[in-house]
This record gives sequence, C-alpha cells and structure tokens, in this order.
Amino acid sequence: MFNEKAIISKWSADMYDQEETETNDVDFLLSVVGNAPKRILEACCGSGRILVPLAKAGHTVFGFDADEFMLAKIQRKAAGLANITWQAADAVHDDWGAGYDVVVLAGNILYNIVSDMDYAKAQELFIKKAASALNHGGYVYIDYRPGGHRVTQKEPSSTDDRDRVVFDGTDSDGNHGRMVILAGSYDAETQMNSFTRRFELTLKTGEAIRKDIPCQKHFAPLEQLHGWLADAGFAIGREYGDCNGNPLTDDSRSVVIYARKAE
Ligand SMILES: C[S@@+](CC[C@H](N)C(=O)[O-])C[C@H]1O[C@@H](n2cnc3c(N)ncnc32)[C@H](O)[C@@H]1O
Repeated sequence: MFNEKAIISKWSADMYDQEETETNDVDFLLSVVGNAPKRILEACCGSGRILVPLAKAGHTVFGFDADEFMLAKIQRKAAGLANITWQAADAVHDDWGAGYDVVVLAGNILYNIVSDMDYAKAQELFIKKAASALNHGGYVYIDYRPGGHRVTQKEPSSTDDRDRVVFDGTDSDGNHGRMVILAGSYDAETQMNSFTRRFELTLKTGEAIRKDIPCQKHFAPLEQLHGWLADAGFAIGREYGDCNGNPLTDDSRSVVIYARKAE
C-alpha cells in the first residue's frame, strides 16, 4: 500500500521546483517593491521561488503555504538568511497576521487558489486579507494571468482546447511520470473554467498511479478585481500589462497591480 495523495503532492512539488525556474516575474517584483528594506508577507509562497529572492534583497519576509512538500524546499535555499520565516497555513481559513509593508499575491495565485470556498469569494477574500495584513500606506502586489483570458474583457478570449503536458520528469524518490491538463471548458455565465489534471506516475517500485483530479478556476475580469480592491480600501498605484513593465492594453492576458492601502 502507498499514500497516493502524498506521492502525487511530493512529485508535483519536485517538478515545480525543477521546472518553474522563471525569474523574470521575480526580478520585476523586486524592482517594483524597491530597495528600501520592507516587512513583506507572501501568501501561498510555495517553494520560495519569490520569497527567498525577496529575503536575499534585504527585506524581512514571511511566507505561508498549505503544501508541506513545497515548503520543504525553502530550507536549503534560505540557508544563512536570518530575515526569512515560513510556515504551513491555509490562506482561506487561517489568519494572515498584521503589520506588513507589502503583501505579495504573485505567481498567479489569484488564479491558482485551492479551497473549499466559492472561487470568486475566495479571490475577494485574498484581497480583503491582504488589506488586513497591511499597515496603512502599505501595498499589495498582484501578478494575475487568468488562463489566456484578456483581463480587460468580461468575455473569455480563449479556452484550453488541447491537452497540455505541464510536468514530465522524475522526483527525488525516483518516481517518474507526467501531469497533463486535459482540454477544458468555460462557462460564460459563472465565469468558471473547468478542466482535469491527469497524473500518470510510475513509482520506483514499479507500481502505477493514474489519477484524474477535476479542477475549477474563476476568471475575474480586471473590472471585478478593481472593484474588490476599492472595496478593501486600496487605490491603484501602478498597473502593468506584464512582468516586463509593458502597459496594459485591450489584448493583455496578464496584469501586474501595485495598489496602496489608504492611510
Ligand atoms: C503555482 S504555486 C506558486 C508558488 C509561489 N507563489 C511561486 O510563485 O512560485 C501556488 C501555491 O499556492 C498554494 N496554495 C493554493 N491555495 C492555497 C491555500 N488555500 N492556502 C495556502 N496555500 C495555497 C499551493 O500550495 C502552491 O504552493
């Protein structure tokens, strides 16, 4: 017998750490946050891909994530840093603390929330919790890329209509395989994307795991995001169409927002 859920989570965390090595978004975040040392919270920090560079840049950082296998990656990367802490916590059900200068909602977390709550309500809750965790005058940093949709439009601009291999490789336990996202569908009324994550793993022991996990994500158009930010007491400071600092256009499929909590 083996623990299928734990094996899939461990393999996924190893694949994320091996394959999600993009630094463009991290460099842009560092430039927007600036050099002056700040107290920064990253919600859903995963394996520390963003959290550790923020600490290395001299900020005092705290991150939390629900996935113990992702969090386990941080220790090695953070060796020698005294200004970084992290813990396991659920973003929806647990408290985010207070007294931060910046709250980071990056890595497209608003489109990657795992929760038992209505998806749009969870997205709005993240913004409210960011506001509560911030000092007056503090900033929330949002990097949002809602699955190919044009952010400025309410209607979808595309849906996933092909199967897509996201991860393919071997974890540190010698388990190998792939994770495929199967073609999804979009419901314009609910603004929900539905799709299936398929795991096809062969364990070191030779045993096989085949697991389909149904997933849903809510496309919140920019207008809705702006409404949630205003309701939570934020004013947009800076807004970009991507992590290269390009302006937002009608065709933008991502948005980076740096919004200030009222004094
Ligand atoms: C795509 S990863 C991004 C990690 C990191 N922010 C980055 O950019 O590399 C998304 C992370 O969000 C975490 N997550 C999703 N929903 C969560 C929740 N409700 N509470 C805590 N963590 C959550 C997952 O465990 C995962 O580590």
